[in-house]
Amino acid sequence: AGLVVAMDGPSGSGKSSASRGVARALGLRYLDTGAQYRAMTWWILRQGVDLADSATIAARCGEPEIVSGTDPDSPAIHVGAVDVAGPIREDEVTSAVSAVAAVPEVRARLVALQREIIGAGDIVVEGRDIGTVVAPDAPVKIYLTASPEARAQRRSAELAGTTAEAQQAALARRDTLDSTRKTDPLSMADGAVELDTTALNLDEVIAEVLRLVKE
Ligand code: CDP
Repeated sequence: AGLVVAMDGPSGSGKSSASRGVARALGLRYLDTGAQYRAMTWWILRQGVDLADSATIAARCGEPEIVSGTDPDSPAIHVGAVDVAGPIREDEVTSAVSAVAAVPEVRARLVALQREIIGAGDIVVEGRDIGTVVAPDAPVKIYLTASPEARAQRRSAELAGTTAEAQQAALARRDTLDSTRKTDPLSMADGAVELDTTALNLDEVIAEVLRLVKE
């Protein structure tokens, strides 16, 4: 196995920007596993499947072809031939993704896909369960955190037409769903280094991760 940098943590912890920056600095590929869960959710919603119907989600989650690009400069995500990079960031998908990601068959399928991509060479992988489940042997595992206020502020700065207060409530709701699910809850891996980004800017976070990689 090559170099795998596992970057886990909740939303708004600065995972995506930091992961892409680290991949760019090291000339590595980059995989956004959250985008894959979002792409699966986008497809499930388009099929008109009821989110409470986990049996149908389980039965059908093998159908969509989910294709992830691994270039940190232009992360691409397709379902079949459809570019879903835009639609997967819409509210409809964001509020449904935790329910879809809780279905064990969805996780099994996407983890297998992730391991296939990781197996092809050195890579920075961001998600919720990379250090615990997807790549437990990764030589570098980082767990990013930030205060709820900082996370909500970053998220509302990224999205139009929302407030930090609304985002803090939405993030708290998703944290609860992601941390209390039976399969692979959001948690810190053995051997992971916790990095609190509340008071750090992006360059400082990237520098700290690069330092840990070189150790
Ligand atoms: O947008 P945000 O940074 O909050 O999240 P994301 O990384 O795009 O992931 C969206 C959702 O996918 C999370 O809230 C989880 O429910 C799920 N997810 C997961 O279960 N496991 C992963 N490895 C990545 C994401």
